[in-house]
Amino acid sequence: MSDKKTAVVIGASSGVGRAMARELAYRGYRLVLVARDRAELDILAGDLRIRAKVEAVVSPLDLAAATTSGIQEFVARCAADHPAIERVAITAGQVSDDDQGPTPLPLLESIVKTNYLAVIELVAGFARHMEQHAGGTIAVCSSIAAATPRGRNTVYSSAKAGLETYCRGLQHHYRDTPVRIQAFALGYVDTAMSFGQKLLFPAASAEDTARYMADKMSTDFRVGFYPRFWRPIVMVLAHLPWGVYKRMKF
Ligand SMILES: NC(=O)c1ccc[n+]([C@@H]2O[C@H](COP(=O)([O-])OP(=O)(O)OC[C@H]3O[C@@H](n4cnc5c(N)ncnc54)[C@H](OP(=O)(O)O)[C@@H]3O)[C@@H](O)[C@H]2O)c1
Repeated sequence: MSDKKTAVVIGASSGVGRAMARELAYRGYRLVLVARDRAELDILAGDLRIRAKVEAVVSPLDLAAATTSGIQEFVARCAADHPAIERVAITAGQVSDDDQGPTPLPLLESIVKTNYLAVIELVAGFARHMEQHAGGTIAVCSSIAAATPRGRNTVYSSAKAGLETYCRGLQHHYRDTPVRIQAFALGYVDTAMSFGQKLLFPAASAEDTARYMADKMSTDFRVGFYPRFWRPIVMVLAHLPWGVYKRMKF
């Protein structure tokens, strides 16, 4: 095993996660690539080995199906195989057109697990690992939807809001330690997730988003919007009177 530091990217088969895996590989990290789609992960791993000349291993995981003990075992296996985990980027996320109003319960559970429960279990597990080693940074993807809930993506918004709140709590817990927890509230990003949607504002590229996040992972960044122009927009939307907000279509 090389003495390179390891980065774990959960959601690496597509979009921001795939771009993040590339970004971290070119910054010299050994990669653990995680998502459900093993074939996509294998292609990415092969590409990174050749182009970025780093070790890349594939570790499939389904966040919606994983039990708490399954997540614990996954973290323990990563920690045993890669003792120098310095970066964990959890970009996995799930949206659905059927997540509207009172979302059907099986879908509700899947969205909560993929965007919140399994994610905070992973954050907790890797944070404990980093605490016992040399520290490191864990980044998660929230969304502008967390601060602007509406009738569409209802469960998704609440899951991302819960994720942000959890991260803020852990940041307070780990203050003055080398364990950094970061939450990126993303606006529109040009990936499979936003494909075909009518977007009111320009979408960032997955590559720019990953580069921004990877840069911030070396800093004391805690919570913020990307692209940053979303901050004032969300502030205005979040403070609109209900009589106006309920008429907004976005
Ligand atoms: N795109 C946007 O406009 C936008 C806006 C705001 C926030 N975000 C957030 O940004 C993050 C990145 O999104 P993206 O745009 O890169 O989306 P994407 O291209 O759809 O990628 C989503 C990733 O999540 C993985 N994933 C989905 N369900 C999973 C499950 N059950 N278990 C494990 N992995 C799972 C997918 O891999 P598999 O299918 O292989 O499992 C894929 O790698 C997400 O958290 C998303 O909520 C995106």
